[in-house]
Parts: sequence; structure tokens; C-alpha cells
Amino acid sequence: MIDPRKEFSLDDFETTAEIIIPKDPLERVIGQDEAIKIAKMAAMQRRNLLLVGPPGTGKSMIAQALALHLPPPTEEIRVVHNPQNPERPLVEVKTRDEVQREEMELLSAQGVEVDPKEVPSHVAEKLGYRCPKCGAYSTPAEPVCPKCGTPKIVQSSMGPFGDIFGAIGAAFGIASFPPRVTTTVREGGREKIVVYESAGEKIRILDEKMLEKRRAIEKKKPYKVIVPLKRNPFVMATGASETELLGDVRHDPYGGHPQLGTPPYKRVVPGAIHEAHQGVLFIDEITHLGPLQRNILTAMQEKKFPIAGRNPQSAGASVRVDDVPCDFILVAACNIQDLPNILSPLRSRIIGEGYEVLVKTSMPDTPENRAKYAQFVAQEIAMDGRIPHATRDAVLAIIEEGKRRAKRIDGENGLTLRLREMGGLIRVAGDLAVMNGDRFIERKHVVEALRIARPIEEQISERYGSYQAGVAKDITAAQKDMVYNYWNESDLSGYQ
Ligand SMILES: Nc1ncnc2c1ncn2[C@@H]1O[C@H](COP(=O)(O)OP(=O)(O)OP(=O)(O)O)[C@@H](O)[C@H]1O
Ligand SMILES: [Mg+2]
Repeated sequence: MIDPRKEFSLDDFETTAEIIIPKDPLERVIGQDEAIKIAKMAAMQRRNLLLVGPPGTGKSMIAQALALHLPPPTEEIRVVHNPQNPERPLVEVKTRDEVQREEMELLSAQGVEVDPKEVPSHVAEKLGYRCPKCGAYSTPAEPVCPKCGTPKIVQSSMGPFGDIFGAIGAAFGIASFPPRVTTTVREGGREKIVVYESAGEKIRILDEKMLEKRRAIEKKKPYKVIVPLKRNPFVMATGASETELLGDVRHDPYGGHPQLGTPPYKRVVPGAIHEAHQGVLFIDEITHLGPLQRNILTAMQEKKFPIAGRNPQSAGASVRVDDVPCDFILVAACNIQDLPNILSPLRSRIIGEGYEVLVKTSMPDTPENRAKYAQFVAQEIAMDGRIPHATRDAVLAIIEEGKRRAKRIDGENGLTLRLREMGGLIRVAGDLAVMNGDRFIERKHVVEALRIARPIEEQISERYGSYQAGVAKDITAAQKDMVYNYWNESDLSGYQ
């Protein structure tokens, strides 16, 4: 097997199956060494990055790999119910330590779970595990004893309609507690409270200490985690809508009614800028954001951005959460023509606190770079998963095409780095090999793929002599057929 991190040449392998695919995504990007170096620096120093260049040259790959070089997030963002003014929920930022401590507390207040047969029988009966008549055990989900058919007595902490209200409460997100039975036991001349609680197949036993902890936890203000501790530090916002980018407060048909509605804090939805907190916000084709670029700029300056209902018709419109943190690294991509359309203060912000990189469109034709091309072929095949590996001769044919394209498209001497399209060529060649029942992609498949997978412009210029001639021909042919329009034939008397 060949490790592409060490130097190798095309003579070192028979097929691309022998090439190991690097684990680090940054090592899978070929020919963009300068951009990668800067991306690593940006990740380490938390700087912004603007990647400029034509489609399919690795901009998204670089952005994604950068995120993997960031330390994992250390903060969780929550919106907390505000009893004084429910439409102004508050923000709470919890550190990793705090989140873990809370989890431990919850765990320690969990009690022990035992088999229903291990608790006093009257308790098991009240919780609906034991039949009062025949003594058979079954889950409380069954309203009658499966053995003798006697209805079970279920005592619920919710009153006679406990189950129904419990279900409705759950549907609307109102906390309902499982049925409990409280008993007292004498221990060493002292009365102690022991609580038994329904827990699915099992029964949970809680003592006084645990109950106290529980009460403390239940007394805390209700909240919703909008940006969890465990999250992907890479957030992509392509073709983003305003709500996707900046967050929103969902509509509630009951207008947040205290009993029927969903409370405002629960309807708060973070935007991509918030989800990218402590990570990377990647915006492909940044100029497509238009005026929203201004919001990105504000978010970058303030490092926090309010979440508000954005649809004026919705009940969410009256809700706003201020100061939601959004401290992200901006990685933006665009092509050269779009540069003038980037909002200039935003661009200046990127330059002031980051880097701009023009990605390469080709790399020199050297033995090392030919080996990189072989690595690229192996990667594309592995990623596709449906095509066989390529022989060395097929890789050579692909390299020759890469050279031809560098010249034709960019007027450069070297191997093209417009690799998405090269990937397309590899997949067509692979499909042909599969159709043929061949074990490997061979040169002949690449040659055939080049014939059938040409861009439509090339096909037109071959048929008509040049692309322009084809376009002209097409128009005249279509117009010839349109000599008689419907108004030449229809009865116009009504209009006269
Ligand atoms: N430098 C590269 N090294 C290895 N593979 C590449 C490279 N550039 C492109 N590719 C291949 O092409 C695919 C598309 O690349 P990527 O999405 O990074 O392009 P892009 O520059 O972001 O394009 P666009 O401007 O269209 O978003 C990748 O998934 C990969 O298969
Ligand atoms: Mg992309």
C-alpha cells in the first residue's frame, strides 16, 4: 500500500486500490498548498478567510477541513423562560463544566430502579403493575390484568383524568410527572419517607435526599438548549434565507396562551450565525446574500445578535431574545467576477482580521503532482463507492486530459485543478467499466468517457462548426416553424 503523505511516483502502483486515502480531510485537498497553510493558520488564530476562485477547485473542502482543526466548543447556549415577561426570554451561556455538573446532579437524583416484584405489593398495585385480584404482574400500560381480565387500580398523581391530562400536557410541552406512591418506613426509631415512582417496566425508589435534589432541579426556570455543547463546529449557510441565517421565533396558533399554547422560549430557533458560535460559519457565494451581508457584518462586530420572530403575520413577531452569542470565524467563498459585489465594510473586516486567498486553477506538471493526481483519482473512486479502481494507464489518460484542460480553459501550462469536473470524468469512465463488466477503469474507458461526457458547448461547436453558429442556427430553425402564430389563424371577429 502507498501512503500519499510520503513521496511516490506513478511507477509505484498498478491500480489506485493501492493508494491509502488520508484520514485528515486537509490532506485530501491537492494542489492548494498555499490556501491550506493559511486555512490552518486561520483556524489556530481564529481569523476570517475569503476564498476566491472558480467552481470545483476545493473551496468548500478547505472550509470544512478548517473547522476540523478548531478546538471543540466549550459553551452551550440556552434560552430561559422569563416569568416577568415571557415574550422576552433570557439568554444563558453555560460552560462545559457547568453542563457536566448539572448532568451529574440529575443523575444523582435519579434513584434506583427495581423490578416491580421487589416493592411492597400494595405499592405495585397502586402503580398499576400488579393485579389486585390474582396478583399477576404486567406493565401499567395495560389497563386490565392480562391474566384474569380484572381492571387495575391505577393511582395517579394527576387525579382521575391523570393520563389524559398527562398526554395533553406532554403534547404541549408541559412537564408532567410520573405517577408516584409515597410511603413511610420506620428506621432506627425514626420515620422516613420513601417514594416509589413508575418508570416503564421498572419502579424507581427515591429517598428524602434525592427528593430534595429533585425539587431543587424542578424549581429551576424552564429553558431550551438552542446551541448544544456537542455540535458540529462547521455550519454551512448556502443560499441562506433570512430566518436560516439569523434565527426565528416560530408561530403558535394559540399565541403563546399560558395553558394551550407553546411558551415563547420554546419557539426560539437559532440561526446559522448562532449555531456557528465558537466554530466556522461557511458562506458559499457570499454575494448571493445581498443585503443580508450587513447583518453578518453586525454579528461579527458585536459577537452577539438578537433572535426575533421575522414574520410580521406570526405570533412569533412579538418575541425577541437579545444578546444571543455568535462568535464565529467567517469563511466565505465567491468567484472572481463577484468580488465587487461583496459589501465593502464586510470585505474590509475580513482583510482586517483575516486572509484572502485566490485558489489555484492549475498546478505544475511535475512527477510529484502527477502522483497527487493519482491520489485524487483514488479519492474520487473511494468517495463514489460504486465504481472500480483505475489502472495506472487510466490515471495517465486522466492526467493527459487534466493537462489539456488547463491549457484550454485557463491558458495555463500544468494540470487543471478544476477537479469537480475531473471527478465527473472519472465517474463516467467508472460507469462504463461497470457496464462492461471490467474489473478496473482502463484507458479505453477514459477515452470513451471523454467522447460522451463532453460539455454541451463542445458538442454544439462540433456539430455546427462553432458555438455561435449553433446558437444562430437554432434560433432561425425555431423561428421558421413559428411563421404561423395562433393569431394568424384564429377568428378575430370578436376584436373588430
Ligand atoms: N483541490 C482539490 N483536491 C481534491 N479534490 C478536489 C479539489 N477540488 C475539488 N475537488 C473535488 O471536487 C469536489 C468539489 O469541490 P468543492 O466543493 O470544494 O469545490 P468548490 O470550490 O467549493 O466549488 P463551488 O464554487 O462550486 O462551491 C470535491 O468534493 C472533490 O471531490
Ligand atoms: Mg463549494
